[in-house]
Amino acid sequence: MKRLFLLFASLGAGVCCGTEPFDVSDELSSPDGTLTLSVGLMGSKPCYALTYKEYDVILPSTLGFDLKDAPSLTEGFVTGRAERASFDETWEPVWGETRHIRNHYNELLVPFEQPSTGRSLLVRFRLYDDGLGFRYEFPEGCGLNHFVVAEERTQFAMSGDHTAFWIPGDYDTQEYDYTVSRLSEIRGLMDGAITENASQTQFSPTGVQTALQLKTDEGLYINIHEAALVDYSAMHLDLDDRNFVFRSWLTPDACGDKGHLQAPCVSPWRTVIVSDDARDILASKLVLNLNEPCALDDTSWIRPVKYVGVWWEMITGKSSWAYTDLPSVRLGHTDYAACTPNGRHGANSENVKRYIDFAAEHGFDQVLVEGWNVGWEDWFGKTKEQVFDFVTPYPDFDIEELNRYAHERGVRLMMHHETSSSTRNYERHMEEAYDLMNRYGYTAVKSGYVGDILPRGEHHYGQWCNDHYLYAVKRAAEHRIMVNAHEAVRPTGLCRTYPNLIGNESARGTEYQAFGGSKPHHVTILPFTRLQGGPMDYTPGIFCMDISKINPDNRSRVLSTLANQLALYVTMYSPLQMAADLPEHYERYPDAFRFIEEVALDWDDSRYLAAEPGQYIVVARKAKGSGAWFVGGVTNEEARTVKVDFDFLDSGKRYVATLYADAPDADYETNPEAYRITRGTVDAQSRLAVRMARGGGFALSIREAGEDEAALPAL
Ligand code: NOJ
Ligand code: CA
Repeated sequence: MKRLFLLFASLGAGVCCGTEPFDVSDELSSPDGTLTLSVGLMGSKPCYALTYKEYDVILPSTLGFDLKDAPSLTEGFVTGRAERASFDETWEPVWGETRHIRNHYNELLVPFEQPSTGRSLLVRFRLYDDGLGFRYEFPEGCGLNHFVVAEERTQFAMSGDHTAFWIPGDYDTQEYDYTVSRLSEIRGLMDGAITENASQTQFSPTGVQTALQLKTDEGLYINIHEAALVDYSAMHLDLDDRNFVFRSWLTPDACGDKGHLQAPCVSPWRTVIVSDDARDILASKLVLNLNEPCALDDTSWIRPVKYVGVWWEMITGKSSWAYTDLPSVRLGHTDYAACTPNGRHGANSENVKRYIDFAAEHGFDQVLVEGWNVGWEDWFGKTKEQVFDFVTPYPDFDIEELNRYAHERGVRLMMHHETSSSTRNYERHMEEAYDLMNRYGYTAVKSGYVGDILPRGEHHYGQWCNDHYLYAVKRAAEHRIMVNAHEAVRPTGLCRTYPNLIGNESARGTEYQAFGGSKPHHVTILPFTRLQGGPMDYTPGIFCMDISKINPDNRSRVLSTLANQLALYVTMYSPLQMAADLPEHYERYPDAFRFIEEVALDWDDSRYLAAEPGQYIVVARKAKGSGAWFVGGVTNEEARTVKVDFDFLDSGKRYVATLYADAPDADYETNPEAYRITRGTVDAQSRLAVRMARGGGFALSIREAGEDEAALPAL
């Protein structure tokens, strides 16, 4: 929609939009002038609106809170004198997509005063060239002390029936396939979008999760999310689908309350990233910039990790996490060595050594071992509160010997803590569990939150659990431990402040390829949505697409080509990357596996070459501290040819490029493992048309040519 309201607006003038006029008291421009924010009152309600170039992004939208047992903070306001500031700094992340990140914004702090109660609500707006962030602030003296949020009342009024890339609102899982539809179609499609893996806590037929990617008919890309989710409940968006107005819908606690706050305090930032070029959304660092700088004095122990794991064999159903099938064991009461083993336990010492040998031979940093500790057989027992103690290995997992064996070969084991969502139990054992890791030389833990949260009634994305996830990360930092939390709340850029949070799953990962499959377009959407808040442990690298070859009882097929799997190491940015398949499958295709061995984990620069959510993404990244580049491209269920322009390379230099592409007859449904590798030279003037099969992709590894490679033909 062309900007409707601002055409008529001037400071202080009443502009009619919706039922009441929007009285604009302050305007703010982004540093380059493309975005304009208007702030004021709609009647007596705090209100804001946002435009990009000549387009409306957010129509006048109201702000505020409903409180429990107290008058609401939604109307009866007058505006006080706003404060302005500008900020421009460049900072260096510990790890990241680029070596430097510019944090450049103009700021407006607006006090809204409610004379009838003597209370005030401050809203701090930061306007960047790529979007807006704003948060509520409750300083000392705002008239509130301890208070309970009944609901946050933030609106995001859309200017039309945009296309949305959405997953259902849910307080406990994000492990959904995406639906692409008009806003007006969400209600009708909601039931179909709720898959059997859903947690069944959907709260509304038009409720969706963030980060929400939208596209307008004029070709504007709008992304709504939040940054710095600290001591607060995660925000969902509930759509008024007659007027296309989203309103915030916080995750409730066990009593139905939405948050317990105590002034002075602030809310997370609400973020709106916007551009007319989809690539800018992927390149945006707005969410990171809105987080606090690194809180750790020493980060020298935080390192990107490439790993393999005793994992896919359990996910596909070939092996088990549990050592015994007897569900009767209780911690401290059973001699596990006397239990009858089920004969399918994956984490047995012999098997773990096989993975360690493989990791050492192929240059991996770590080996994840799941199912190493007692408790798995009792998962559904009534004592879930105390299933795991995170320190007692099963009798066939020799923790001391295996760590020694690994270290001798230059490899570390990666710890696994499945908490079964019993957060109190985990906190109770955390210190001992991290101590054990320190004792044996583990530097990273993958944690998980499968199942209903204990204490009962709490939700994965409520304030209680969000506090827990951050507590675990902070405690881990004290032990110099990196954290990769799976079913934790979707990230909101907190890895800037705590860079030992090196990964999260918090979305539908590769595991679902073994649970029936994920739509090919999934990986063309995740970078626009889930990855806005931080890296994802997507666990790519599957080379055997027919899961029944691993477990005859599992008829799942991986809905992706092999070349697409390689591309994911570049398109799904993460400093933590797994090669998820079984060693024997990599041994079948050693030439393709070479890409996974070589690909970097940390970057000096990233260039998004082409992108369209739901369709394709092509990105080139320059490895940190080296002149090497890696390129990845993925497509949805349509085959397509993309033109790669190598102008990101240093001019005047010659490079050798290895292209891992779909074979001409590759197809994710009929011939997913067919690939073709070609090698040749490229330079900054090179152009290359690369065909991607249905559900396919490509990967390129590029390094400077040696003198003896002068005779190589062009790629
Ligand atoms: C779900 C995680 O996503 C998966 O990676 C893990 O293996 C299981 N939980 C068990 O913890
Ligand atoms: Ca998961």
